[in-house]
Amino acid sequence: MGTKGFITGTGMYLPEKIVTNFDLEKIVDTSDEWITQRTGIKERRISRDDEPTSELAYKAGMKAIEDAGLTPDEIDMIIVGTFTPDMLFPSCACIVAKKMGLEGIPALDLEAACSGFVYSLTIASQFIENGVFENILVIGADETSKTVDWSDRTVCVLFGDGAGAFVLSSKGTKNEIKGFGMGSRGSGHDCIVIPAGGSRIPATQKAIDEKLHFLTMKGKDVYRFAINIVSHTIKQAFNESNMEVSDLKYIIPHQANIRIIKSAAKKMGLNEDNITINLDKYGNTVAATIPIGFHEFINDGKSNSGEIAALVGFGGGLSWCTILVEL
Ligand code: ACO
Repeated sequence: MGTKGFITGTGMYLPEKIVTNFDLEKIVDTSDEWITQRTGIKERRISRDDEPTSELAYKAGMKAIEDAGLTPDEIDMIIVGTFTPDMLFPSCACIVAKKMGLEGIPALDLEAACSGFVYSLTIASQFIENGVFENILVIGADETSKTVDWSDRTVCVLFGDGAGAFVLSSKGTKNEIKGFGMGSRGSGHDCIVIPAGGSRIPATQKAIDEKLHFLTMKGKDVYRFAINIVSHTIKQAFNESNMEVSDLKYIIPHQANIRIIKSAAKKMGLNEDNITINLDKYGNTVAATIPIGFHEFINDGKSNSGEIAALVGFGGGLSWCTILVEL
């Protein structure tokens, strides 16, 4: 078996429009104080009506390819982690491939909500490790703004739109994937859900009238799950990779709630400075939080080569996944 892959390029893209907590105070019964204290979010980016997920994904993907010193024709496969593709089918990845002028390469979406990017990266890693492909573009992109009920204060304040991307390559000198641990718990599938628009409740006027096409979340249940799963999945990844958890130096966690992030730091015995936090600026961008977080983390230059970072995703499914990267 060869390497599990080197992250040779990273990129991110956010829509221009900024919506602050104060803007939200004008449309729902909420306050900057409540949102800041309960979640840590101050503002988020919201995409334009004519800017579907594939557009954000394409822009982040092109930046990652450029960062890797490649051109799109050197990409062997595209995987997009998203739960908000442009449409139910075809996949967002096929639309991204078209925008990049790529014909013939495999392109697929992977739906694992907030774990979507890390799940996608583990899949890409298999093709690298088996020697099948040399460069795979992995994107996490979501536009949750287009799935929430903007009159539901329990949900609409939490999310933002965005995209982040990695090029995973068979050759490189740093940022190598060393292992991962992943899992799911379908018994909690109804904790975060968009009930209508699929085969169980097709898109009908009745479904829309009953607001079943909007994202709903049992916030407290997801919170309890998240608080426990972060440390569990990190330890799982170290165990399954035969690595020492004491070597953990940084966590690049999914950005759902500052309280979940701080609890993870405490449980893993890390200083809060060693955990990336950007949900104050972007909110929960679902599959995009981790590639955006890692992109900002490696570009701020505070890490040293050889240190171990854990990329930790958790969310709808319920699902979870940690990837260990040697910087
Ligand atoms: N503004 C003001 N008040 C609000 C708001 C709001 N935006 N939203 C809810 N409230 C009220 C509630 O109505 C409730 O009022 P009550 O006590 O009178 O009934 C009160 O605030 C407390 O509400 P809770 O839901 O108990 O608040 P909680 O502290 O649990 O925070 C939150 C809610 C932020 C959603 C939290 O539960 C959380 O972060 N959950 C985890 C989310 C997560 O991890 N998601 C990741 C996956 S997402 C994915 O996969 C797509």
